[in-house]
Amino acid sequence: MVELGDKRILLGITGGIAAYKSAELLRELQRGGADIQVVMTESACQFITPVTMQALSGKPVYTGMWDNRVPNGMPHIELSRDRALIVVAPATADFMAKLVHGSADDLLSTLCLARECPLMVAPAMNRQMWEKPATQRNVSQLRKDGIVVLGPDAGDQACGEVGMGRMLEPADVAGEISAWFRPKLLSGIHVVVTAGPTFEPIDPVRGLTNRSSGKMGYAVTRAALEAGARVTLISGPVALEPPAAAQVIRVETARQMFEAANAQANGADIFIAVAAVADYYVANNGTQKIKKEGGVPTLELALNPDIVESIANRPNPPFCVGFAAESEQLEEHAEAKRRRKKLPLLAANLVQSAIEADDNELILFDDEGSHRLGRSSKLDQARQLIRHVAKLYRPPKTAVRA
Ligand code: CTP
Repeated sequence: MVELGDKRILLGITGGIAAYKSAELLRELQRGGADIQVVMTESACQFITPVTMQALSGKPVYTGMWDNRVPNGMPHIELSRDRALIVVAPATADFMAKLVHGSADDLLSTLCLARECPLMVAPAMNRQMWEKPATQRNVSQLRKDGIVVLGPDAGDQACGEVGMGRMLEPADVAGEISAWFRPKLLSGIHVVVTAGPTFEPIDPVRGLTNRSSGKMGYAVTRAALEAGARVTLISGPVALEPPAAAQVIRVETARQMFEAANAQANGADIFIAVAAVADYYVANNGTQKIKKEGGVPTLELALNPDIVESIANRPNPPFCVGFAAESEQLEEHAEAKRRRKKLPLLAANLVQSAIEADDNELILFDDEGSHRLGRSSKLDQARQLIRHVAKLYRPPKTAVRA
């Protein structure tokens, strides 16, 4: 949900084909309540007209340094001083290179250099341009300079190629901006998240695993970071890029996850178990590949430790959150699981609707009852979950000396 109050945001548009998405982004930001001033580069005007953006924003659009509509003749100062944020979307490779070098040869780059407010960029370019070392160096320099880089995304590109470099969808850019403005509810808090499946080897090429994309756990990690927490992500094998700010510990088996989680939970404030942990491991697993000639093998399964349950049952546990994917009788199973594992909060969903999907429909169970979140993206669900966690979390009372 995009909630921007009446934030005053300057939307900068540079010259890439993704400029067509800027019109929708402007609408998304306005729906969230924001007041938008648009500034475009000359090349952006080749892709979308200032008239379109003027009609949508209800304000004149500025494109050049020498604009006599600005009384003091200094649009680079006038247009940015009352703004809470500048967002450049799309931001071309060239524009990002200019930001890195402090180049100021048009209105938008001059305005960015002269700004007093924070700056975000949403890169959009061909995958080769994105992957080039020069662009990657620039992106990392922008981050070091405190500029927030939103995306990009992977997928089909306007040029017909497929890869990394698409601009995030307008709703996602607006969601990121809205999350960024929210109060940092978990600042100073250490959150540990488990995510993805575990893999239990049978032999060097085969194994048992659970169906899990890791998307929900990675979304929870992002949402906790956005809320200002320090986050340790303990991840099973998934094909996802973790958020840059998270400390990542990669594991394969449930027992490795158990060890990592127990070590990290010491001194952690909040533990969120999103991983789909395999309940069993193969006790008679082999170091050599099992050959068919040997007949059908018999696997001896042994029970894996329950990670969240063991942490929640410590003498002074962190605030523990469990997840449950159920195939039937969601509410009964989820609440029973929460009580059995002694969890103050459990988030549950029906499995058939969630594993590979980008959206989800969680119900939260706590001592007060159940709270239905309604279907939305996994990131939006994760943000709602984190807000709920922040509401319930109470820091442990520190001992007072006599
Ligand atoms: N979990 C865990 N360690 C395990 C198994 C589960 O930490 N060995 C955590 C999961 O990360 C999740 C919660 O426990 O937060 C519920 O997982 P789920 O697989 O639904 O629960 P199980 O206890 O395995 O119950 P069942 O498979 O019988 O439904």
